[in-house]
Amino acid sequence: MKALVYHGPGAKAWEEAPKPEIIGDTDAIVRVDAVTICGTDLHILKGDVPAVTAGRILGHEAVGTVDAVGAGVKTVKVGDRVLVSCITACGACRFCRDGRYGQCLGGGGWILGHKIDGTQAEFVRIPFADTSTYQVPAGANDEQILMLADILPTGYEVGVLNGAVQPGDVVAVVGAGPIGLAAIMGARLFSPSHVVAIDLADTRLDAAKQFGADVVVNNSREDAGAIIAELTGGLGADVSIEAVGTPATFDQAVRLARPGGHIANIGVHGEPTTLHLEELWSRNITLTTGLVDTYTTPTLLRLVMSQQLDASRFVTHHFTLDQFEEAYDVFAHAGDTGALKVVLSRA
Ligand SMILES: NC(=O)c1ccc[n+]([C@@H]2O[C@H](COP(=O)([O-])OP(=O)(O)OC[C@H]3O[C@@H](n4cnc5c(N)ncnc54)[C@H](O)[C@@H]3O)[C@@H](O)[C@H]2O)c1
Ligand SMILES: [Zn+2]
Ligand SMILES: [Zn+2]
Repeated sequence: MKALVYHGPGAKAWEEAPKPEIIGDTDAIVRVDAVTICGTDLHILKGDVPAVTAGRILGHEAVGTVDAVGAGVKTVKVGDRVLVSCITACGACRFCRDGRYGQCLGGGGWILGHKIDGTQAEFVRIPFADTSTYQVPAGANDEQILMLADILPTGYEVGVLNGAVQPGDVVAVVGAGPIGLAAIMGARLFSPSHVVAIDLADTRLDAAKQFGADVVVNNSREDAGAIIAELTGGLGADVSIEAVGTPATFDQAVRLARPGGHIANIGVHGEPTTLHLEELWSRNITLTTGLVDTYTTPTLLRLVMSQQLDASRFVTHHFTLDQFEEAYDVFAHAGDTGALKVVLSRA
């Protein structure tokens, strides 16, 4: 089969690789029908994720058709159309029993395209198939369901639910990439009074308006603090969501929240960041962090199928699997190409 293989920082190729086989009896082999690229894959290619070693097949999002199952797989059958989630769950450990699959102690968590070979391939091996895949509902198209593999649960769980968005809230979202946009879309489900999107790129702010932001702020030339103060009688945002992953944007997200407000960090941080407790100790804030667990995937599936969420809106570019190199180029230059999510499908 062919796969997108990582060859160390800056190097990757769509090349011949051995077709995966069942190793554990809870494994399934899934034929990949649609797959996408995540910002995290770009981090890996820069060498920011040293756990990913040369020779690894990248990718942690897919929709596909089950090609083979191990003897211990109970609910997934050959021929089923499944969503492959970015988080694998053993289903039995302490954290899985608590719905915290991202923290799985039994060999799951974020392993695809990280610790084991991933989904950017013609076939992928999925451990713990019963608890790590979701049946694609009849009538759903692959690409809308593919958005549930990572970005929609991440924005919803780590941003909106951790941030405890309530009706009437003013919600600030720093960073309007796919994750920030997913948080904006998820926040809208709770009828906030305002959703303020903050980014440096006007293309991303235009997208934010489509996804439900009613106020957009270009951080390079406008003062988000002043704009939010005006909306909130000087108090600050009820919920402030960080969706970039830098010290400056984290600090901004913290400063935008009102006393008693929630600050939900989603961004992956590679550097230490100062938390100004000398100012914050008396402000009664709640600060949350999180790796996505994907425990809301069934809820999000229902919201997509009932057209409460338009997941296909994220998809800006289409390719076939053998166009992986080109798709990476388009996705990596999102500022110029306007890419949000690129979808690669079997020809
Ligand atoms: N916690 C999790 O489980 C989880 C899961 C997936 C992704 N992530 C992380 O979420 C973050 C966002 O992911 P993404 O795919 O949307 O990334 P992205 O790079 O596509 O988007 C980031 C956005 O932030 C904007 N930005 C950069 N600097 C800014 C600044 N100073 N002020 C305002 N905006 C600024 C960029 O213009 C861009 O639109 C990343 O750090 C990613 O690794 C976290
Ligand atoms: Zn991802
Ligand atoms: Zn587990």
